[in-house]
Amino acid sequence: MKEDLVLPSPRETAEGAAREPLLDVSGLTKHFPVKGGFPIRRTVGHVQAVDGVDLTVHVGESFGLVGESGCGKSTTGRLITRLLEPTSGTISYRGQDISRASRKELAPIRSEIQMIFQDPYSSLNPRQTVGKIISNPMEINGIEPEGGREKRVRELLEIVGLNPEHFNRFPHEFSGGQRQRIGVARALALEPKLIVADEPVSALDVSIQAQVVNLLQKVQKELGIAFLFIAHDLAVVRHFSQRVAVMYLGKIIEVGDRDSIYTRPRHPYTHALLSAVPEVNLSDEDTGGRERIRLAGDVPSPISPPSGCRFRTRCWKAQDKCATEEPPLIQISGNRAGHLTACHFPEEPTIEARDEDIVLDPALAALEESED
Ligand SMILES: Nc1ncnc2c1ncn2[C@@H]1O[C@H](COP(=O)(O)OP(=O)(O)OP(=O)(O)O)[C@@H](O)[C@H]1O
Ligand code: SF4
Ligand SMILES: [Mg+2]
Repeated sequence: MKEDLVLPSPRETAEGAAREPLLDVSGLTKHFPVKGGFPIRRTVGHVQAVDGVDLTVHVGESFGLVGESGCGKSTTGRLITRLLEPTSGTISYRGQDISRASRKELAPIRSEIQMIFQDPYSSLNPRQTVGKIISNPMEINGIEPEGGREKRVRELLEIVGLNPEHFNRFPHEFSGGQRQRIGVARALALEPKLIVADEPVSALDVSIQAQVVNLLQKVQKELGIAFLFIAHDLAVVRHFSQRVAVMYLGKIIEVGDRDSIYTRPRHPYTHALLSAVPEVNLSDEDTGGRERIRLAGDVPSPISPPSGCRFRTRCWKAQDKCATEEPPLIQISGNRAGHLTACHFPEEPTIEARDEDIVLDPALAALEESED
């Protein structure tokens, strides 16, 4: 395959225009102690949930973070929003190191970084009205918008596509999709610059997912809010993110612009994720007889991850070197600028066939078609 340098397409140039870094994460690590022993409980090991993650989210950009369950996505999100203390590493927001900032030091920044959670049922207080839920962040931060908080709540309800007259209703009076819209309105209340959305649609009905993704995309584009969008499969993120990082067992193993990740992936794990088919019972006929990569075995325990490359116990290309040397996350030969891969024996940058490998949820597929 020809691997000459490819100039950025006009779209990439336009997207890359506002490349001012907003969030810069370096060597981010979170090890949770594992307690054991009787009668005296002591630390017997550590869950290496996040282990040396580097990532940058630019102003107004949507950055996707993808990986299987347990690979450390939520922990990364919680570290960035400072719901968790990092074991080591730095989190820099608009040039300021916030990784160890005190509550007081964080106060001016807190409102700028918001989080949307996966579960629209448990993340809203059932005893509060929608108006109270959405105005809460304004109250806590002592913010009195022009025209009052109620007016702002109505505006926010309108932005997220809900009836502004419903501000006196309770969460149980809304459907799952509507509740997630309330969660979005709450996140928008303080006019954030960055939203960490942790699997914001995976608890929703497939038919509703596309609507909520659409809303988030509208928010990102029209309000210029940057997103760290966490998802377990590449389908949702593909629609939403300009850049995507793939995580495995606490580490980012590949990162790049959308085009590189979806049409020129190099890491075997990214190939496997791209060829994973959400629907079952696809016969050879349906798949065009193409080989699909099935990941053998389970993800190893993050308490004692494999030496060298963490993916090696499931990798079909693994060799001796993979057990002794950890592959660095670098721009390997043949990759475009900004496309980094952590692998000693990378795959060819395949293109056409892989595109069809991604089987979108029907609703998301419809959304993509309407966009193109
Ligand atoms: N508070 C905690 N104490 C101990 N271990 C934890 C804690 N939180 C997370 N972990 C562990 O850290 C690892 C990463 O968890 P995390 O929730 O970040 O993964 P995830 O990628 O978000 O997974 P999922 O897709 O299931 O949400 C897991 O092994 C998990 O069990
Ligand atoms: S470094 Fe080795 S084990 Fe890891 S992904 Fe590459 S080939 Fe597979
Ligand atoms: Mg999670």
